[in-house]
Amino acid sequence: MPQPPDGQPAPPDGALPASALAAVGARPLGVYVHVPFCLSRCGYCDFNTYTSGDRGAYVAAALAEIDLAARVLHAGGRRPPVATVFLGGGTPTLLAPEQIGALLARIDARLGLAADAEITVEANPDSVDAAALEALRAAGVTRMSFGVQSVREHVLAALERSHGPRRALAAIREARAAGFHGVSADLIYGTPGEDDGDWRASLEAVLEAGADHVSAYALTVEPGTRLHAQVRRGERPAPDPDTLADRYAAADALLAEAGLAWYELSNWARDPGHRCRHNLGYWRSHDWWGIGPGAHSHVAGTRWWNVAHPARYAAALAAGRSPARARETLDARTRRLERVMLEVRLAEGLDRDLCDPAALERLAAGGLLRVDDGRAVLTLRGRQVADAVVRALA
Ligand SMILES: C[S@@+](CC[C@H](N)C(=O)[O-])C[C@H]1O[C@@H](n2cnc3c(N)ncnc32)[C@H](O)[C@@H]1O
Ligand code: SF4
Repeated sequence: MPQPPDGQPAPPDGALPASALAAVGARPLGVYVHVPFCLSRCGYCDFNTYTSGDRGAYVAAALAEIDLAARVLHAGGRRPPVATVFLGGGTPTLLAPEQIGALLARIDARLGLAADAEITVEANPDSVDAAALEALRAAGVTRMSFGVQSVREHVLAALERSHGPRRALAAIREARAAGFHGVSADLIYGTPGEDDGDWRASLEAVLEAGADHVSAYALTVEPGTRLHAQVRRGERPAPDPDTLADRYAAADALLAEAGLAWYELSNWARDPGHRCRHNLGYWRSHDWWGIGPGAHSHVAGTRWWNVAHPARYAAALAAGRSPARARETLDARTRRLERVMLEVRLAEGLDRDLCDPAALERLAAGGLLRVDDGRAVLTLRGRQVADAVVRALA
């Protein structure tokens, strides 16, 4: 995870600048809840998560931050309903379904959930069973996102995952049976030791189990992780860029064949109704409040981020202070650049007026994007080298 910028001091009461407050409600509002606990840390992961900590204290603090969010967002008199909620982690399902239900009930009571709100919970497959999934569905969760990563034992072992393939696929089936509107599977490709057949098997298995949405991520070797140290010592190979590009193309072809279309670089859905509306809000620069340690928030060009450690987070809220560590207000140029970097990832494309026409022409001539109806959309080749396209457009 990239370190947040230094930013400016955030006010202790969390109040928004007048310009951001005036724009509350102009765009859909999302709420992200970061749950910073895992039973063990996977060797590749650098997310803000801890293998010990007081979950009860965390929930109390998160409830207090929801109260704070309502005070801050409603200060200007407008009360936009929450369109989407995403509980991510870490492992949100280390909380009991009742604790997740209490967080959702508080969001509804203080901020108001839209009647058609999308409510996603991320889960490690071995942190839920059929009864827990039924309880989450009863608490109002509409969408489950499972960290499957692979269905090959040797790949899961290389990733240091705590679950096997059978449990991961059973979790998808149990979620289907529990009646969630959406069931998504996260997969990782390019793990040392994975071959083309392993990758194909993982894609086929999650579809066969009933996933209507797939997120497929290239394995990233993040500094500070065990995987990074192993690669540095030469014990494991770094993922090969050509292999990653081939696996991406294979995923896109297999998923398209099965009826799942890409809508963002790493995300495919059965139909528009099964896209993750919450994540689309990030890529479209909508507004969201991030609850929890290390969570980031954004309202109309002002963004802030919370202190990372759960104890410091809880202490700030217990003392009646905002847990924000710092914040920044983006100038017009930075906002435009951010829109370019985010919207170019989307199948709906990027407004061509945001881009340098000469750069667009070069990229189109190189077969990396097409300009249709005023919007620049990446080709398959462009998606395979998206970082380079972004650098050329920024
Ligand atoms: C931070 S996890 C949270 C979900 C849950 N704890 C789990 O692991 O199943 C969200 C997703 O990010 C992806 N991810 C995390 N670190 C990654 C890395 N270094 N490279 C590629 N994908 C990564 C994984 O697919 C994971 O499912
Ligand atoms: S379970 Fe998920 S969040 Fe936790 S360490 Fe593993 S990848 Fe990271």
